[in-house]
Order: sequence, then structure tokens, then C-alpha cells
Amino acid sequence: MVKKPAEFAILKIGDREVKLPIIAGTEGDCGIDVSSLRKETGMITVDPGLGNTAACYSSISYINGEKGELRYRGIPIEELVKKVQFIDVAYLLVHGELPGTEERRKFSDLLNVDSLMHEDMRHFFDLFPQGSHPMHILSTMINAMASFYPNVDLKSLADDIDSSCARVISIVRTMAAFAYKKSIGEPVVYPRHDLSYCANFLNMMFDSPVKPYHIHPETVRLLNVLFILHADHEQNCSTTVVRSIGSAQVNLYATISAGISALSGPLHGGANQAVIEMLRMIHEDGDINKFVRMAKAKDNAFRLMGFGHRVYRTFDPRAVIIRQECENYLNLIHCNDPLLDTAHRLEEIATKDPYFVDRQLYPNVDFYTGILYRAMGIPENMFTVMFALARLPGWVAHWKEMIGSGTKIVRPRQIYIGKELVASEEVEDRNNSKII
Ligand code: SDX
Repeated sequence: MVKKPAEFAILKIGDREVKLPIIAGTEGDCGIDVSSLRKETGMITVDPGLGNTAACYSSISYINGEKGELRYRGIPIEELVKKVQFIDVAYLLVHGELPGTEERRKFSDLLNVDSLMHEDMRHFFDLFPQGSHPMHILSTMINAMASFYPNVDLKSLADDIDSSCARVISIVRTMAAFAYKKSIGEPVVYPRHDLSYCANFLNMMFDSPVKPYHIHPETVRLLNVLFILHADHEQNCSTTVVRSIGSAQVNLYATISAGISALSGPLHGGANQAVIEMLRMIHEDGDINKFVRMAKAKDNAFRLMGFGHRVYRTFDPRAVIIRQECENYLNLIHCNDPLLDTAHRLEEIATKDPYFVDRQLYPNVDFYTGILYRAMGIPENMFTVMFALARLPGWVAHWKEMIGSGTKIVRPRQIYIGKELVASEEVEDRNNSKII
């Protein structure tokens, strides 16, 4: 909750003093409320990248970047990955509480009923050139859902948000699996009513009429863990996009489509695919220190993908769990992935190197994830799709929180550094000249 301002910040501008309320939340960062700044001083704040700016009030996730803590609706991720499944977390994020037995049955039924994609949407896959990245396909098809399904906007919010949330979470999972099957030229596998959310996804990805897929319980458990860990992360880039686009009262599908596009960037969710490409390059080259030197060089664009974070100043708590799951799962399936050894060596070198230590650059959620996806048989161009599937409930939760809070349309100001007024006589009248 937002506590009444107990204190004020005094801003001195020339001989003027302006009192600005200091806002404290339940815990974490306090903020100086500058919503009256321009009216009182004619000035605005400047914070490119918004690293020092709270864009909203939210009660969905809490991150302590200094301590490396992440909680969903107050529950630490370490508890959630041990005790619940991904669909429980999806419900938790959207509704604020874990589902009771009856709520869970209803939500699970909705996920099942809405697991089938509209058959006409299957033709979309034929229009994408072979080799299209599944993130581009997914973003396009989710946007198209607005033409096939009832609108989900402020008005429909009063209706059952569950069915909208379930539809997005469930149909998009089917879309993702269909996109994969299409990319390898295999017939699509339909969702089954008798399988759980994660088991259904794995079956749709890997089952085939000629080679039945054995759904290993440990792989299903692991996918639940990975989806839970990626489900939300407060005001990250793609969630900020979702909240911004949603503030214009755009329907939910277009909002999610924009979130997917933002997530696909290599500095954001696209990093999990970039990490594997980097580890393979380092492994094949053999000189790991050369790449560490490149990552530190100012004149080199190379960065250690999967390292660093805007908020965490220590290990990303998700990376700590995923690294341990890597060890366990690869041992279980007797898989010896040389890229895991490379990852371990890179982590060991970087976490002792003053360049990384001084800048507080540690492995983030993307550093080890790809090793697990590889071991599960997920192709590299689907890694970021996995991130997107997991983040769907987080995006829906933030969209619902934002649109339900009466947020104004997001419209920041700027500091203009362009040309001064250009005189009329400097603008050549091209309508009467020979240029055209
Ligand atoms: C995600 O925000 C979220 O919550 C996102 C996410 C989520 O769950 O939604 O957690 C998911 O996106 C994780 C991040 C995945 N991206 C990567 O792994 C890409 C590699 N990381 C970097 O590009 C970078 O660390 C960012 C983009 C993640 C964060 O960038 P910042 O906060 O803007 O930091 P910066 O670029 O200002 O870097 C500060 C310094 C710079 O050096 P100096 O100018 O001080 O000398 O650290 C250096 C940077 O050059 N630096 C790195 C580095 N990351 C930062 N140097 C080498 N390798 C890196 N990876």
C-alpha cells in the first residue's frame, strides 16, 4: 500500500523552495512525487531509460536488487517453485492470491476449453516464409486474435477476466507449438484435455504420429519451474510497453503482441538465445579470456550475454535456481553439455574480474536457461518464445492492474535539443520550384 507522505523533499531552484512529498510503499524504493513539479516550477525531471523513475504503483511483483530477492504477490519465488505449478502462479499474478480448489478447477477448465486455436488461424502459418523467427510469427498472430475473439478492453474487464487471461495463456501456447511444428514441416499436434498445461505444451511440441513422445514427469516439473521463474518481473522493458500501450485502452491482444515484440530484443528476452550462440562461439574458439577481454573493451560492441541487469546488483535469484536445475537435470538425463562447462568457467572468471565486480555484473535469468532448453530438446529459435509464454500471465496481470486503476494515457515529456525556430524565408517554396 502507499503510505501517506511522512516527509517532504525540499527542492531549491534559485531563491525558490518547493516541497515535494516523499512516497513510501510497502517496502523497497521510496520516491519523490514530482507530479506537480511542472505546474509549480515550470520544470520537468530528466531520466533517460527511467532507471530512477517509478512509472506506476504496483502490487504484483517485488524485487530487491541489492539482496537478489524476487516475490510474486509477496511470495518468494523459491517457495513457489517448490510448492505450486505454473497455472497457480498465473492465477496468483492476475488475482493476487493462489487459487483455492474450486478456483483452480475452474481456471484449469478454462485453460483446457481455450487451448484450441481458431482453425482459420492455421492458414496464417502458410503465409510466413520458411525460417521466419517464431517470435515474429507469435506477435503477428496474437495481434490477429482481436479479429477472431471477443474484444478484451476496459469494458470487458468487468466480465470474467479469467476467460480472457486463460484464452491468452492457453491459445498462445498452442500457437507457439504449432509455429514450431510448421517450421520443421511436421503435422501439428492438438492440445489434449487430459494433460496439464506444461505437459500439453511438451506433447504438442514433440509428439508425432510416427514417434510418440514420452512425457517425462521431471521434464514437466522443470518446465513448470522455468515458467514460474519467468512469469513476472515488475516494470521490465516489455511490461512497461504493455502498460504504456494498454493505457491508450488498446485491446489486450494488441497489448500482448507489443510486449512480445519488446521481449524479442537481445538486450531483453532475446538474450537467452544470444547466450547459447555466445557460449557456442566461445567453446568453438577455445580462448575464453579473449571474449572476456572483448566484453570489457570500450571499443568493442561485444557484451557477455546473460550478464548484468538494470536492477540486480548481485546474482539474479532466478539464475541461482536455474543453475542448480541445470546440474540436476543434465545428470538425470546423463547429458554432458560442453556449453555448461563453458558457462561455469565464464561465470567463475567474470565473478572474480574487477571489471564485472565493480559494475556489479552477475549472471541473470538468461545465462543458464538455454542450457536447460537445449537439454529438453527445445530448438534455439524457440528459447525466447518460451520466455514469452511464461511472461503472459505477468503481462495480463499488469494490463489488468493498469487499466483497472484509472491510469492516464502514458505520455512523457522531453528535453528538446533540436534546431531553433527556422525562419519562413529559409524554407524554399517547392510547390513553385523545378525540384519536384
Ligand atoms: C532480461 O529488466 C528486467 O527485469 C528484464 C528481465 C525480465 O525478467 O524481464 O530480467 C529479463 O532482460 C534480463 C537481461 C538480459 N539481457 C542480457 O543478458 C544482455 C546483456 N546485458 C547487458 O546488455 C546489460 O547488462 C543490460 C541491458 C541487461 C542492463 O543494461 P544497463 O542497466 O543499461 O547497464 P549499462 O548498459 O548502463 O551498463 C553499465 C556498465 C557499462 O560499462 P561502463 O560504461 O560503466 O564502463 O556495465 C557494462 C556497460 O558497458 N555492462 C556490461 C554488460 N552489461 C553492462 N559489460 C559487459 N557485458 C555485459 N553484459
